Amino acid sequence: MKLIFEKSRPGRRAGSLPRYDLPKAEVPEELARRTAPRLPEISEPELVRHFTALADRNFGVDTGFYPLGSCTMKHNPRVNERVVNLPGFRDLHPYQEEEASQGALELMWRLQEILAEVCGLQAVSLQPAAGSQGELTGLMLMRAYFADRGEAEQRRVVITADTAHGTNPASVAMAGFELQKVETDERGNLDLDDLRAKVDGRTAGLMLTNPSTLGLFDEHIEEVSAIFHDAGALLYYDGANLNAVCGISRPGDMGFDIVHINLHKTFSQPHGGGGPGGGPIAVRDILEPFLPVPAVVCEGDEFRLDYDRPKSIGKVRGFCGPFGVFVRSYAYIRAYGPALREMSEVAVLNANYLLARLKDVYDLPFDRLCMHEFVLSARNLKREHGITALDVAKRLMDHGFHPPTIYFPLVVPEALMIEPTETEAKETLDEFADAMRAIADEAASDPQALKDAPHRRPVRRLDEVKAAKRAIVKYGFEEHPDLAPAPSGGAAVQAQKGA
Ligand SMILES: Cc1ncc(COP(=O)(O)O)c(C=O)c1O
Repeated sequence: MKLIFEKSRPGRRAGSLPRYDLPKAEVPEELARRTAPRLPEISEPELVRHFTALADRNFGVDTGFYPLGSCTMKHNPRVNERVVNLPGFRDLHPYQEEEASQGALELMWRLQEILAEVCGLQAVSLQPAAGSQGELTGLMLMRAYFADRGEAEQRRVVITADTAHGTNPASVAMAGFELQKVETDERGNLDLDDLRAKVDGRTAGLMLTNPSTLGLFDEHIEEVSAIFHDAGALLYYDGANLNAVCGISRPGDMGFDIVHINLHKTFSQPHGGGGPGGGPIAVRDILEPFLPVPAVVCEGDEFRLDYDRPKSIGKVRGFCGPFGVFVRSYAYIRAYGPALREMSEVAVLNANYLLARLKDVYDLPFDRLCMHEFVLSARNLKREHGITALDVAKRLMDHGFHPPTIYFPLVVPEALMIEPTETEAKETLDEFADAMRAIADEAASDPQALKDAPHRRPVRRLDEVKAAKRAIVKYGFEEHPDLAPAPSGGAAVQAQKGA
């Protein structure tokens, strides 16, 4: 496909502006342009075709099955978009006075109440913009809680599982705690002996995803919780996998004190590619005084923002958080109503159906019923035919599927982490299972076809290191990037001129 600059012809325009009849702005000499910018010159139909062709190459939940484990890529009901576009929500200004924003405040308050109920905890802040920011906020709450008890110097260590998502250890470090890892046992649970040896008076808390990133519910969660609470520490629940348990089991009942909820996963949202997201946190009552301000509160029939929280950790995001995300998630939850449990039940059923169809052709590191996702390993294909998880993922693209998450969690070699979600039909699951099985057969019959995949995509197998290290993000009019010498390494890898 040609670049837009290559389609450009002098004098062509996609639109015409009225003649400029206002006084010219005074621009300081040193800031003024010497020459006009070199913008692509193109007609409107060409422009529309160009960007439509680019958009067509994109893959999303609206174009195909997207079983990206841990990311919960579910269908986004269109009614959510209608609701978020209601003028009262869409045109709301963040500085609008409270009396004129009662509907929006009520929606936020109701969402808080629902999330508190789903998590089995007492208070919620909607502010954090993503799961990772929820993690940081939750750990800041932990720090504030221990500081308030005079234990800030003593409680320095936060424990994470060796299956943890990378944001967990990153958040621990950002919040100023020391990180300690606990191992996974042979059934995919936290290793209790390892845990007992590590938890003591220096421990501030645990961060755990349950079900874990292996898609397995920890069979000893009550014991885990007792180990931490007996030591005076707190438990943090990474809610990225909440889609498995809504209405079935509640993190608060399991013993967790702080939870983040990835609204953009569990409660739908057109996400991927970086946003928009929402990462509210729910906490036990002992932590409520430390939550970010403002809190959305209800007094009688009125809703207002409460800034009068002397122990609050402050603000973690502008205004009250990502409001459009709240509206969509609220609509999604209300569409299920009291049957929210069915969402998780079907997610778990779909995952177990796929697992049952695949476990005889791929290695299954932990042979248990899974929750809403499962992790297979391509190590059998690697051992027998030299085929890796990456080869399987690339070949899946030829079958029209987005690849699953690969090489994560790190404890499983050649990992393929598959999450179908509740919104997929049995036929789609069967087509995917058929493709995965065909790929396993092909590994034996024609491994080179897998090594060279994808064959039917606009872009073939990329040099991923080059793509990351030599990202070309601007058009070099005189120089072609492929003619430039490769950088010799080192830190100062420059973006190349060119397309
Ligand atoms: C297990 C787990 N924890 C935390 C996160 C971070 O969430 P977010 O992407 O919303 O920052 C993710 C994201 O994929 C995740 O899978």
